[in-house]
Amino acid sequence: MAPILEVADLKKRAQSRVPKMFFDYADSGSWTESTYQANESDFSQIILRQRVAVDMTNRSLATTMIGQDVTMPLALSPVGFCGMQWADGEILAAQAAEEIGVPFTLSTMSICSIEDVAENTNKPFWFQLYVMRDKEFVGNLIDRAKAAGCSALVVTLDLQILGQRHKDLRNGLSAPPKFTPKHMWQIGTCPSWCMAMAKTKRRTFRNIVGHAKGVSNLSSLSAWTAEQFDPTLSWNDIEWIKERWGGPVILKGILDPEDARKAVDTGADAIIVSNHGGRQLDGAPSSIRGLPAIVDAVGDQIEVHVDGGIRSGQDILKALCLGAKGTYVGRPYLYGLGAQGKAGVARMFEILRTELDTTMALCGERRVTDLSRANLFSAFGERLN
Ligand SMILES: Cc1cc2nc3c(=O)[nH]c(=O)nc-3n(C[C@H](O)[C@H](O)[C@H](O)COP(=O)(O)O)c2cc1C
Repeated sequence: MAPILEVADLKKRAQSRVPKMFFDYADSGSWTESTYQANESDFSQIILRQRVAVDMTNRSLATTMIGQDVTMPLALSPVGFCGMQWADGEILAAQAAEEIGVPFTLSTMSICSIEDVAENTNKPFWFQLYVMRDKEFVGNLIDRAKAAGCSALVVTLDLQILGQRHKDLRNGLSAPPKFTPKHMWQIGTCPSWCMAMAKTKRRTFRNIVGHAKGVSNLSSLSAWTAEQFDPTLSWNDIEWIKERWGGPVILKGILDPEDARKAVDTGADAIIVSNHGGRQLDGAPSSIRGLPAIVDAVGDQIEVHVDGGIRSGQDILKALCLGAKGTYVGRPYLYGLGAQGKAGVARMFEILRTELDTTMALCGERRVTDLSRANLFSAFGERLN
């Protein structure tokens, strides 16, 4: 079998092991997928500054994100349906993140529940909240995350309505999945995925079923999710969410400096510059292109993180140079899960860590906390050094 040297290798392996409809679900963006593609390709428009004959011993990738120690400035983004890439995917990814010493963020739309992940890990993880119309459910979700010991609440602001993803519609993928003969054929051709899935009891949205009013089975869940994302969500909602939660809050989905200023006014601890991995507003700028203006606008008032299109340690380093205090990956760990389960997520971490460390050294730096725009030759056509 071909060696796994980079994230693209994990992606190839995952594609051959995960049923098409679930692989496509991960590997899709909205409409033309232009923002999804730009998220990845825009990193090539940032050119690093090579430095030589600098002492490269005793390097360190350690830093903090929202005051919490991390062994490198990288967290796992919340992704829905993670447990459909591989059985118990959320638990496996959380365990791999815990072992390497970085945060795992559990999605509201996860297959494994908050309690499932808490029971199978030893350290606190982060919880991502979608603000639903049913505020009693949302309040209870916050309380459950608190009871499970979650150490940050990530509130997603960029999904009040769902961006259309053509691949999901073409595959007939619904939430929760309804299996047609075409799907059964796709599943049947992925025996290792099936075997792992046959051994778990976690196959539906366990944060929701049995917790939301009137949702006790798959068909009631389908109707509930279709109408629950709250189109009235506003900045005022952050106040009651913060009060109910009482811990660190990270606002996710900021792509515009004006919104970043509003986020600062809420008193949140951090923002994530993000376009939902190119799954919402197709035609919006890539996250990495949006980052510098946001750092310039609010970087001295709030911690700025970024996700979207990060596929290598070089990408992480470029984001840090442009002022991000932390970065996240979504699809790369889904590919890891689909390729090799927990070992694949661990492999992804190793790959990104080694690439980040080597790149940092070749830029003549020894600590990630020292990286800045001074380490860039140019960005988006503008000569910096
Ligand atoms: C399959 C998939 C499911 C996602 N589900 C969620 C979700 O439930 N909540 C959320 O806030 N973001 C969700 N996102 C967005 C990610 O948190 C993150 O912003 C994005 O994946 C980062 O881009 P990357 O995949 O290129 O690393 C999802 C992304 C993907 C690819």
